[in-house]
Amino acid sequence: MIEVRRTIIAGNWKINMDHLEGASLAGDIAAGLEGREPACEVVLIPPFTALPAVMNAIEDSPISGGAQNLWYEENGAYTGEISTGMISALGCRYVLVGHSERRHVIGEGSDILSRKLRAALAGGLIPIYCVGETLGERESGTASKVVAEQIGEVLTGLSDADMRSTVIAYEPVWAIGTGKTATPDDAGSMHEIIRVLLGDIFGSRTAEDTPILYGGSVKPGNAAELLAREEIDGALVGGASLEAGSFLGIVFPA
Ligand code: PGA
Repeated sequence: MIEVRRTIIAGNWKINMDHLEGASLAGDIAAGLEGREPACEVVLIPPFTALPAVMNAIEDSPISGGAQNLWYEENGAYTGEISTGMISALGCRYVLVGHSERRHVIGEGSDILSRKLRAALAGGLIPIYCVGETLGERESGTASKVVAEQIGEVLTGLSDADMRSTVIAYEPVWAIGTGKTATPDDAGSMHEIIRVLLGDIFGSRTAEDTPILYGGSVKPGNAAELLAREEIDGALVGGASLEAGSFLGIVFPA
């Protein structure tokens, strides 16, 4: 499954929306797309319990589904975990790997994230691999070093075909859920750094073809100027994806 560089707007619902609320929100978003041609692929990433209802609600729409997490074994004694096969059996295309809340709240590091990313790819899902520095790391001038480590430690060793089936999301931790957005220049220059890093590992063609999304307080009011940057291939949206009007305002920026 080789993917191409494209614009993706993905809504990460985190722990919001039970299955009834999720079906209703997904239905409203699908209705908002009817008769319009978004210039992007639209992805909804609900919590696991809402995933079947959301996949039902978007069945006849162009929207893709994704999961927020996965376990790296296909089955077995891993109480509380969900496998790639279970996610793709619902018709999902995407799965988040390495979201900063998984890294910093749950404590997932490069080793487990590498396994998860490879399990996703082996099971035919497209991982959205999230990277990004904390406020302290940005202020101490180590942001690009941290992002380089997150890229190098997890992606090095992937086949070219696997890298071409992977999406990157740059989400500075200090911009997530805080209302502080990276300026288009800050985001754009980190996206350039990431593309150079990918070029060093996989060659420039693969790097050029990899979608790199931005995430961190994206909303209708700032989406257009972020998405106008050539280096920014889309958005991973948290808070503003929980309401159909604001999410659609990002899908169709003014
Ligand atoms: P936010 O979250 O848009 O609420 O900042 C983004 C994310 O965590 O993916």
